[in-house]
Amino acid sequence: MNLTNRKPNKLFNFVASNNFQFMTTTLRIERTQESKISSVDFSNLPFGSVYSDHMFITEFVDGEWRDPRIVPFGPISLDPSAKIFHYGQSIFEGMKAYKDEAGDKFLFRPLENARRLNTSAVRLMMPEVPEELFMSGLKTLLEIDSDWIPTSDGSSLYIRPFMFASGNGFHASPADAYTFVIATAPSGPYFGGEVRVLIEEKYARAANGGVGYAKAGGNYAAQFYPTQLASERGFNQVIWTDDNTHEYIEEAGAMNVFVRINDTLLTSPTSDRILDGVTRKSIIQLATDLGIPTEVRKITVKEVVAAAKDGSLKEIFGAGTAAVISPISGFGYKDETFTLSEVDQPYAAFLKKKITDIQTNKAEDPYGWRVSV
Ligand SMILES: Cc1ncc(COP(=O)(O)O)c(C=O)c1O
Repeated sequence: MNLTNRKPNKLFNFVASNNFQFMTTTLRIERTQESKISSVDFSNLPFGSVYSDHMFITEFVDGEWRDPRIVPFGPISLDPSAKIFHYGQSIFEGMKAYKDEAGDKFLFRPLENARRLNTSAVRLMMPEVPEELFMSGLKTLLEIDSDWIPTSDGSSLYIRPFMFASGNGFHASPADAYTFVIATAPSGPYFGGEVRVLIEEKYARAANGGVGYAKAGGNYAAQFYPTQLASERGFNQVIWTDDNTHEYIEEAGAMNVFVRINDTLLTSPTSDRILDGVTRKSIIQLATDLGIPTEVRKITVKEVVAAAKDGSLKEIFGAGTAAVISPISGFGYKDETFTLSEVDQPYAAFLKKKITDIQTNKAEDPYGWRVSV
């Protein structure tokens, strides 16, 4: 990082906004000398690979978060013995910022992400980030990079808060220093086309007593090899099943999974092995309030396969911040593949519109989920 261009400390005073009271946080701001924004084609955004001008960063040293600041987005220098490289203490979150036609900016249930980051931190023996620090860093970053929030349909500013062990040493023990960063990427849709999934019968991403419920980097590393094998068979994602019996549907890639059998919407309960998705819990609430019969219960692979065979399987879709709601057009299990027929008025499209209208300020938000920034 280039720290030569330091501006004097600036006091950011965030007072009550929606339901949240923010502390007064002193953030140092170092603006980029040259914005990259004119080189970005906002009408054709990829997902998560174009980065905005600035990032928020702070280090945890001697028991406290120090020198929170906004700096130009750029490389971070680490010692080769930094424990992130050896012991994988690495957690992250995924959120989005939206802009409406009037140019007002919004987040969706941001405290859920701040809290889940801390749930992950506790499990990975890492320090928690105070919610006020998380929110004030994020809000200031969005102020400074507000021009990077795209407005075209289906696009948004993807936000990636993450923390890693920056303390040094080859001893297999928790690090004594950590770095927390929030970086952002103006992004288009996560999936390009139709999504076909393979129901996994051998590998597992998580186990009871493990870290599956945390957003730990290693959970994703564990998915890559089985997902590659699935992709060689023509599938975009794996639907994970329980590690013990592989008889129950759990989640998919970076999405929770919903199944519609006849008119009933089903999703698995969260557990040690499943991420407690913000999109998932919002969909359960919306579907219930909209009168869709909704059940949170274990779903067997057997019943999904049987429903595909007898025609009662109407829809499967994934739900997550990145993918929003992504209909799954077909699935493989063992040596069979199943293609779902199109249904009239799919729940996936209906619920996707409901949730994105709330996120982008096109609809009333009776739940208080949308937060102005
Ligand atoms: C493994 C996993 N499951 C589910 C989700 C969906 O969670 P959310 O809706 O909070 O983005 C994600 C994405 O964060 C994920 O990585």
